Amino acid sequence: MKKIVIAIDGYSACGKSSTAKGVASVLGYTYIDSGAMYRAVTLYFDRNHVSITNTQEVKKALENIDITFIVNDKTGLNETYLNGLNVEDEIRKMYISKQVSQVSMIKEVRVEMVSQQQKLGKKKGVVMDGRDIGTVVFPDAELKLFMDADIYVRAGRRQQELLDKGQMIGLEEIMENLKERDRIDTTRKESPLVKAEDATIVDTTFRTLEEQIEEVVNLALSKI
Ligand code: C5P
Repeated sequence: MKKIVIAIDGYSACGKSSTAKGVASVLGYTYIDSGAMYRAVTLYFDRNHVSITNTQEVKKALENIDITFIVNDKTGLNETYLNGLNVEDEIRKMYISKQVSQVSMIKEVRVEMVSQQQKLGKKKGVVMDGRDIGTVVFPDAELKLFMDADIYVRAGRRQQELLDKGQMIGLEEIMENLKERDRIDTTRKESPLVKAEDATIVDTTFRTLEEQIEEVVNLALSKI
């Protein structure tokens, strides 16, 4: 069967990753979380006190960053490694969420991440989610989706996810973070979050995860 690229973009915490993981599992595709890559860069910058306004420092830091995804044998899911260390849990923490959009604005960071993402998707059979996947990373993707959901629903889902990992964060703080990231991501100069002209809008407000996965799988099958 022909393999395609599925690009999923949209606002923060709309269910992009969960949907993408489910779709990849049904189709036997590789799931790549591009946001995890920006989060890993942010973690490196934070740990190494990289000044994001100093282009030379940023460039030097990027040379020292190696991001890989390795499948966890127990869950069968990709986990993020930064310079050989598993950072999957660390990059989901609030202090990273609060800095990641500022780091993602930097041109040098985007150029490097986009190049790595394009390599990862070269062989097709990939579901990638992010903010610029259908517009910049894979403008020729066979299936493009743009996800949205009500902000209260998004914040509630993210709160539950964090709680499942033992992090208790108030709804207001989460909602503020989602709004602020969306604001920066949609207004930045370098590849802002916009719906690709040929993307299908998927609103997940009233859908269960299973329904979302089924809808996307059906759309994908119609392209194969
Ligand atoms: O997907 P996730 O919410 O983990 O992404 C974290 C942040 O990484 C986003 O808010 C955005 O600033 C940045 N990002 C990006 N481009 C992508 C994926 C994520 O700028 N393709």
